[in-house]
Amino acid sequence: MLTPSARLAAAPPLSPPPGWSAERLELHHGLLDRPAHIDPKFLYDALGSSLFAAITQLPEYYPTRCEAEIHAAHGAAIARHAGAVETLLDLGAGDCAKAERLFPVLRPRRYVPIDISTDYLEAAARRLRPAYPELRVTPLGQDFSQGLSLPTDIPSARRLFFYPGSSIGNLNPDDALAMLRHVRGLCPDGGLLIGVDRVKPREVLEPAYDDALRLTAAFNLNLLRHVNALLASDFQVEDWRHVALYNAERSRIEMHLEARRALRVRWPGGERAFQAGERIHTENSYKFTPDAFQGLLERAGYRDVRHWSDTRGWFSVFLAHA
Ligand code: AVJ
Repeated sequence: MLTPSARLAAAPPLSPPPGWSAERLELHHGLLDRPAHIDPKFLYDALGSSLFAAITQLPEYYPTRCEAEIHAAHGAAIARHAGAVETLLDLGAGDCAKAERLFPVLRPRRYVPIDISTDYLEAAARRLRPAYPELRVTPLGQDFSQGLSLPTDIPSARRLFFYPGSSIGNLNPDDALAMLRHVRGLCPDGGLLIGVDRVKPREVLEPAYDDALRLTAAFNLNLLRHVNALLASDFQVEDWRHVALYNAERSRIEMHLEARRALRVRWPGGERAFQAGERIHTENSYKFTPDAFQGLLERAGYRDVRHWSDTRGWFSVFLAHA
């Protein structure tokens, strides 16, 4: 008879079945890493996108309101500095609400909302079209985290990229720089309008990512349901706890999912044991000083960089020419 350890040694090593998509491989490897991690883009299935839209209404979640305040107060100046916009390309458009509020000042002829959450995006585009019959709306369901691929029929002249909400903060500093350079290369005579959340006291930051209604907890935990759907894994949502903390040394909010007890997660081609208290890192949300972000834009090759802030100085909107 085999002893337990001999049985383990005799078991064939688990490996992903051949023919797996890049997405499944990415999840598989992230779950086997130490510590385990899942990319924040997996937060956005249709329910995750709806939960995020609800989060933006929370009293604790200030970034969306701050950015809207800046757009409302400085929209005319932003439009003047942007010049004529032929095509507005919206990175991580979600429900398209932020861009829509800028249509009257930016007056684009064409709108290209881009989002990984394809069904949610298509529904938003369908709502938009009848309200703006003059505007050509071309949604692109795409994961642009590894680079954007634009259809050839999107005109290349006078593009303005719109990257609101401080979504750039999901990327680590090297990847953020690479993304900014990549975008600059796609709009040679255009520019970038980007929102960034600012460094501020932990007492303001942490509740924004750990709200009293626990919507952010639901948003984070829903990622496990999405992963189950993609990977056929057997995560039990009730075994996990939402954790959000400000890492001041690295100027970032971190979201994690923490195992409430020792458990094991299985999926075809893999499995992972977690100790009680062990975490899966699910999101970073970097916070910037205006100087640090200005420097990042300049290193990425942008020029004529300007920025505007809300009255509390909690959020900044930058406009930079390619
Ligand atoms: C959409 C990436 C900007 O980092 O604040 C909200 C996502 N995570 N609450 C952010 C998020 C938790 C959000 N971004």
